[in-house]
Amino acid sequence: VDKSIDLKAAIDSLRKEKNAVILAHYYQTGDIQDIADYVGDSLALAQWAAKTEADIIVLCGVHFMGETAKILCPDKKVLVPDLNAGCSLADSCPADKFAQFVKEHPDHTVISYVNTTAAVKAVTDIVVTSTNAKQIVESFPKDEKLIFGPDRNLGNYINSVTNRNMLLWDGACHVHEQFSVEKIVELKKQYPDALILAHPECKGAVLALADFVGSTAAILKYAVKSDKKNFIVSTESGIIHEMRKQCPEKNFIPAPPIDSTCGCNECNFMRLNTLEKLYNCLKYEWPTIEVDEAVAKEAVKPIKRMLEVSE
Ligand code: 13P
Repeated sequence: VDKSIDLKAAIDSLRKEKNAVILAHYYQTGDIQDIADYVGDSLALAQWAAKTEADIIVLCGVHFMGETAKILCPDKKVLVPDLNAGCSLADSCPADKFAQFVKEHPDHTVISYVNTTAAVKAVTDIVVTSTNAKQIVESFPKDEKLIFGPDRNLGNYINSVTNRNMLLWDGACHVHEQFSVEKIVELKKQYPDALILAHPECKGAVLALADFVGSTAAILKYAVKSDKKNFIVSTESGIIHEMRKQCPEKNFIPAPPIDSTCGCNECNFMRLNTLEKLYNCLKYEWPTIEVDEAVAKEAVKPIKRMLEVSE
């Protein structure tokens, strides 16, 4: 990119010229969140994609988010700034192995977290996000046999709050697995009045310490409404950008990971997207997300089923 280009102005004029909408997840860098038309959690991204009238959707997030948008809008062009932005959680659930697991339990209803590939969604009955997982699980009768994949931490958490015994896939997110219980306890001694806000992808021991457990959007909403000043935020630190914007007077402290030198509060995949790549992808309309038609035909069903029951 020509260094003299004002990237923000150029992105803005390209989006108007091409009737494109820029959707960003809360884990994106602050500059991408600031320029996006909408910033939200995984559910909101799917909802916005489903109803947009734009010709092009630029999904600033990771691959499965782009895939979900493409499955919902097969006739639109769906772009992602960097195709290498994958997801450790989606990778922890290879489609062939998951399909085999499903096959071995033919009497089970299959619930999959949105952090999965299209091929996993294709063998799923209903998709959930962390915003609606509890509500959707509770919509099934108590005695219904359920498979929940791929996040074991979210699955365990939902099992505990709904008093279920869903069969869990053994997957996890590499960022949320890294938060240190001991270091959070230490931090809490330093800020005794701080509230601990945790994403349900965190390990059970971290969730046990939390004052509030919820999706990125739910954590944000909770922090905005709270009359407290200090918060320890146990999720990818990108969410803190919007928290500080909405509550400049409050103090948001990223929860410390086990290895303090790793910088692993930040998802290395999410952070592959940059303003420069966003500009390039709008300009060249590349890279696009493509989903195999036969896979998409199956995968769209559990996604639409989720959208129908979510607000
Ligand atoms: P939510 O934004 O839906 O809470 O999901 C977080 C996440 O894991 C994104 O990859």
